[in-house]
Amino acid sequence: NRALVMHGINFSALDRRPAEHYGGLTYAQLEREITRFGRELDVTVNCFQSNYEGAFVEELHKASDYADGILINPGAWTHYSWAIRDAIEIAGLPAIEVHLSNVDAREPFRQVSVLEGVRTGKVAGKGVDGYRDGLQLLKEAWER
Ligand code: DQA
Repeated sequence: NRALVMHGINFSALDRRPAEHYGGLTYAQLEREITRFGRELDVTVNCFQSNYEGAFVEELHKASDYADGILINPGAWTHYSWAIRDAIEIAGLPAIEVHLSNVDAREPFRQVSVLEGVRTGKVAGKGVDGYRDGLQLLKEAWER
């Protein structure tokens, strides 16, 4: 099965963001790790990143053409982009929300997710390993 792994705003500068929350790795390293998890779990991984909400939404519109499920980390958009929420609904695929940091133990604005209600599952606060858990949750969704 095929997973589309989507990163949103500010992930292209991941290595310049607070290492205590995000681990200090580059976005390229993050993609490599996730691709490796995919090989381990026998899931084909495709990665997409954009800092533009419209481009991100348009990719969600196309997702069902080439993927069976989505791992999605929209960054700060998570907390306020109702457009991305609606686009996940349009995609019509199982979608697992993933965050590197433990959003539920940070500032109140990060404890809100507009994806609630359209996502299949959520993993947060496990760093890069959380993407392995996310792929595992997708596999479980595919088996249902
Ligand atoms: C994040 C958490 C968000 O609150 C933040 O805006 C990010 C990264 C995470 O992976 O922990 O950009 O999604």
